[in-house]
Amino acid sequence: MLWLAACSPGPDAGAIIISGSGLGREADVLRTQIARFSQARGIRVELQPAPDSADERHQLYVQWLNARAATPDVLQIDVIWTPEFAAAGWLLPLDAFAPRVAEFFPAAIAANSWDGTLFALPWFIDTGMLYWRTDLLDAAPRSFADLTSATGAILGQSDLPYGFVWQGARYEGLMTVFVEILGGFGASILDERGRVTVDSERAVNALTFMRDAIHEHRTTPAAVLTWQEEDTRFAFQNGQAVLMRNWPYAKTLLDDPGSSKVAGRFGVARMPSTPEGRPTAALGGAQLAVNARSRRPEAAYALVAFLTAPEQMLERARVVGQFPSRPGLYDRPELSEAIGLPAAEVRDILQSARPRPVTPVYTELSGILQVHVHRALTRQTEPRAALESAAAEIRRLLARSGLDRAESIGLRKPATAGLYP
Ligand code: GLC
Repeated sequence: MLWLAACSPGPDAGAIIISGSGLGREADVLRTQIARFSQARGIRVELQPAPDSADERHQLYVQWLNARAATPDVLQIDVIWTPEFAAAGWLLPLDAFAPRVAEFFPAAIAANSWDGTLFALPWFIDTGMLYWRTDLLDAAPRSFADLTSATGAILGQSDLPYGFVWQGARYEGLMTVFVEILGGFGASILDERGRVTVDSERAVNALTFMRDAIHEHRTTPAAVLTWQEEDTRFAFQNGQAVLMRNWPYAKTLLDDPGSSKVAGRFGVARMPSTPEGRPTAALGGAQLAVNARSRRPEAAYALVAFLTAPEQMLERARVVGQFPSRPGLYDRPELSEAIGLPAAEVRDILQSARPRPVTPVYTELSGILQVHVHRALTRQTEPRAALESAAAEIRRLLARSGLDRAESIGLRKPATAGLYP
């Protein structure tokens, strides 16, 4: 509560308030774009910073929205929150503003719609990537077995402190890593029909791999059990790790020779897999929504439209390295230049990225998994027992909420080709 009071700039009736995260260079580019918008439209905008951690931001937003606060007017919503916030009546339906939805990735629009209504516009798309050191490895490991042997060999011959680093703290980031390792082992949290599959044999193998990387092979440091995105980025950037799993934003910062010891000495690749699975990138990202109780919905929407326009997305890609949610931009050479990767290939990766379950009870579902997965990683429980407990609790949650049918938890496939496999 103290934190809340300290961070709140206080209501200013004249300004539109936008709240979002400031990971990497996010806050810089947002400030620049807000200033440009204010100048062009004569609408004052204030940025109310929110925590980087998705879970803390979620908690804060739930407190505000549940208390029926009229601000922030514009909210940066994680790709997994729209169903929950929309079902609670906290977001303003955007259809009346007639946004040109056909210009965005169809599945991102599907993820931002609830009950046939559009509640947010896609801002940027995140996808998990494997960062690898080109000066230590000849190629990125394609299988988890290669990853373990190659990293183990390097750690044995050098004084490098860390092998493969990832987000292992008990928070949402761990869920995205888990989704990727699950996919690599041919497993999933739910199947296409919405049945809970996270206690399958393959899922147990996936979690066992994560646990053993820390405690048996020691290719992953136990420190990751408290690490979020930035902790892993600092380790990799300081030249202390062989491999890192992270989002695209890290690349721009790692490329900067002024602050990065690995500039020019790393590459990005797909995550490894096993013969039973396939390389899997979690689908992440953010959208912009308008608070249903905003006193200035038109001005708030004007800001959303401005920030999600092509020019702003290209600038964001250039400064922060985050990927645009407009497929049309991937044909523009400026985008490849901006992200330092072939944009057409990135579009392919995005098109097969794996979403987390789309349901209004995602936060509860994730909370259950976070506890049990983390317990297995800290060796308080065996992976099988951990996943059996998690699966039982998730089955009860879905049954209790009447959301145990595929169509009602949004697992239907979009009619058009899009981001979802
Ligand atoms: C990134 C992703 C988001 C995810 C979060 C987890 O911000 O864009 O979707 O939930 O990381 O830490």
